[in-house]
Amino acid sequence: MDDASTMTVARNRIEVMHGVNLDQLGRRDPDVYGTLTLLELERRIEERAEALGLRASFFQSNHEGAFVERLHAARDEADAILLNPGAWTHYSWAIRDALELASLPAVEIHLSDVQAREPWRRVSVIGELCFATVSGRGTDGYDEALLLLRDRLASAEETASAEDGGAG
Ligand code: DQA
Repeated sequence: MDDASTMTVARNRIEVMHGVNLDQLGRRDPDVYGTLTLLELERRIEERAEALGLRASFFQSNHEGAFVERLHAARDEADAILLNPGAWTHYSWAIRDALELASLPAVEIHLSDVQAREPWRRVSVIGELCFATVSGRGTDGYDEALLLLRDRLASAEETASAEDGGAG
């Protein structure tokens, strides 16, 4: 039997969500956020996701309501969420509630090390709804986050199949 680290997952749709100001990657404070544009970052995530047997879809908005509505849709259209809401992370209770409604396994990600920056960035209103947070690893952090999501989806499938008596 495959173990969870090599297993291909059937429920493999990952919604990758970037929030406010993240469309400015590439020209926004490169010392903090790196030099890749959002499009380049998304292509990199797509390749890495494919290598892990995952299907990534991408969304970015500077409008909180649009981000909330994408989370509403994710409930039916995705199996897991990888989200970097930008500054909304630190105060948007609306996004927190929408993430809770989505009821999907989620990983919170930040390019910069939010714990080592201004005090207001150390607060996350979504953290408790995410099974992991990856922060301060730049674009490499997305590789780690995808692996965490793949392993979580694989374990969930293994558990479901064992409960059905199909695990052998
Ligand atoms: C960020 C960190 C946030 O504090 C900031 O507002 C961002 C980007 C990051 O990826 O490091 O917009 O989420």
